[in-house]
Amino acid sequence: MFVALEGGDGSGKSGALAHLGAVLGEGALLTREPGGTDEGQAIRGLLLARGGHDWEPQAELLLIAAARAQHVARVIRPALAAGRVVVCDRYVGSTLAYQGAGRGLAVEEIVMIHNHSTGGLWPDLTVVLDVDPAIALARGLARLRAEGSGEDRFEALGLEFQHRVRRSFLDQAAAAPQRHAVIDANRPITAVQADVAAVVLGFLAG
Ligand code: TMP
Repeated sequence: MFVALEGGDGSGKSGALAHLGAVLGEGALLTREPGGTDEGQAIRGLLLARGGHDWEPQAELLLIAAARAQHVARVIRPALAAGRVVVCDRYVGSTLAYQGAGRGLAVEEIVMIHNHSTGGLWPDLTVVLDVDPAIALARGLARLRAEGSGEDRFEALGLEFQHRVRRSFLDQAAAAPQRHAVIDANRPITAVQADVAAVVLGFLAG
């Protein structure tokens, strides 16, 4: 069973993933994109370095695809073959939302490159944490103040971009409701985390 966790920046995804990991226990593999392998982490650094690079959308898509090809072949497929539940923090839904709706690449182009990179591996279930970008922004700023570091992606991408990303996740869920669950992430974190765990456990049981 392959589960992807998706949502805009500041949707509370990381906390939900940690909670889900505690609920699922040792049998589950938690991983993330971009990243998931040493090579993928190196690509993540290229993509997300603060004040770093200015990639063309097509170049960004290919870097993400390269990290994903490595991740799927070396980590995700072997784990699935061993019968483990795999939960991935971001996957193709993020590519459709950020490189597609956000940066304007065509859906067909993204799907073609995704299928090429992964041998056509799509999640069995995608859980979308749906958050109003204004609320996510406030959370990000609070964290920035508390930690003195952290997210600067909102400022980098802009609120309008985040609204397009949100719309895309909701559209993806509406287009394939049997493979998606949308969770209202505009609520206290503990309620969101409990709902994510309940949805995933329900799906695994069904
Ligand atoms: P994270 O902090 O949630 O791991 O986010 C990583 C960033 O990478 C986030 O801003 C979204 C972006 N991203 C894409 O643009 N396309 C993708 O396909 C993936 C997986 C992430």
